[in-house]
Amino acid sequence: MAVTDQLPFHLKGNYAPIGDEITATDLEVTGEIPPELDGRYLRNGANPITGESEHWFFGDGMIHGVRLSGGRAEWYRNRYVRTPYYHQPGKPLIDLENPTFDSADSKANTHVVAHAGRILCLEEGHVPYEIDGELETVGPHTFDGRLDSAFTAHPKICPRTGEMIGFGYGMAPPYLTYHRVSADGELIQSSEIDLPAPVMMHDFNVTDRRVVFMDLPVVFSLDRALAGTMPFAFEPDNGARLGVMPRDGDNDTVRWIEVEPCYVFHPVNSYDHPTEPDRVVVDVARYPSMWAASPEFDEVATLWRWEIDLAAGSVAETQLDDRPIEFGRVPDSRVAQDYRFGYAVSSGDNDGLVAGGGSALVKYDLEAGTSSAHEFGRGRQPGEMVFVPAEHRAAEDDGYLMGYVYDRADDRSDLVILDAADVAAEPLATVHLPRRVPFGFHGSWVPA
Ligand SMILES: [Fe+2]
Repeated sequence: MAVTDQLPFHLKGNYAPIGDEITATDLEVTGEIPPELDGRYLRNGANPITGESEHWFFGDGMIHGVRLSGGRAEWYRNRYVRTPYYHQPGKPLIDLENPTFDSADSKANTHVVAHAGRILCLEEGHVPYEIDGELETVGPHTFDGRLDSAFTAHPKICPRTGEMIGFGYGMAPPYLTYHRVSADGELIQSSEIDLPAPVMMHDFNVTDRRVVFMDLPVVFSLDRALAGTMPFAFEPDNGARLGVMPRDGDNDTVRWIEVEPCYVFHPVNSYDHPTEPDRVVVDVARYPSMWAASPEFDEVATLWRWEIDLAAGSVAETQLDDRPIEFGRVPDSRVAQDYRFGYAVSSGDNDGLVAGGGSALVKYDLEAGTSSAHEFGRGRQPGEMVFVPAEHRAAEDDGYLMGYVYDRADDRSDLVILDAADVAAEPLATVHLPRRVPFGFHGSWVPA
């Protein structure tokens, strides 16, 4: 057996880290980059600086970016986020001899989001790290010292108010804290929310008037942590609940409603029902369980809809499709709003793995109850694809989808741009990168 066969999945193939930081210009392009695209596509991922990590989620944050302008791909570059782990490779995640918490000890590896003139690299256990437009690290961002705890990698930016709405979760009380950041970047609310047990809360849901927390039974255990094993595991006896709260609410105004035990890393979108004020619609990529038998990804997620009836105190749970999906996205302008089209990566041809590289981009028309797909072809594996609106958009799907696609035969990656209105068509443009981009997590389009 070759040595590489013994490695965990996240250290081999296109999950394996790359060793250097480069800047490349004069990128070869097939097709035509829409000239109106003026900005940066940035994507974060785990790239362990020592070459190895205990779990896919524990590698060091590396941003891969492509600058588009005037129909050209001006550059590709990749940079580590300069965290304490970058400066001190091998620094343990938790010092078991002396377990202290430093809010700046982030791997900054999960998402990259622009808000209030800043580009923030996010990881759910610590404070964000700011980078500049050339991907150089500015430093930890604490909202003028007001944040000294965890901040989710999945805040939602309200398209109506410009607020950035988030939360943080902890292994010690408070297990959950709700955060609200104003449109100009000021942390204006941090409220502790009671939870019965520490659970992994990777993401949450926001509507125009409410937030919906997901208390799902992937539970933290100190015993597992002290034994040096994956501290989170599926414990369905813990129950599963959705917590609905007004956006300016607090612990006293959360309404908890039970759902079937399951796990969700990522919602697709959520909204207040347009005509029934007591109903909230939440669409998610739902796993029947997560880490039930081992810390492996041995389940796949499918699209489900939770329709919350606040008057009845109940949730109707409906599976909408049977394709394995992850990385659901909608246009930034539809976040928290009623929407028609959702986009996700289908992981059908992915050796059973859930995330990282799929095989197709699926577009759901939730109004018509139909879907279409872009199949990337044999050995070509997309990660998350981000929606970028067309400049003079009329329809909700008037825009572009972009993301990195790994080509196994060439062992290189491309930035692929699809027409969101016609995803099955040939890509509008394929920007050929001089290297492979390891499978990672989440990204954003940051307009110039
Ligand atoms: Fe995520």
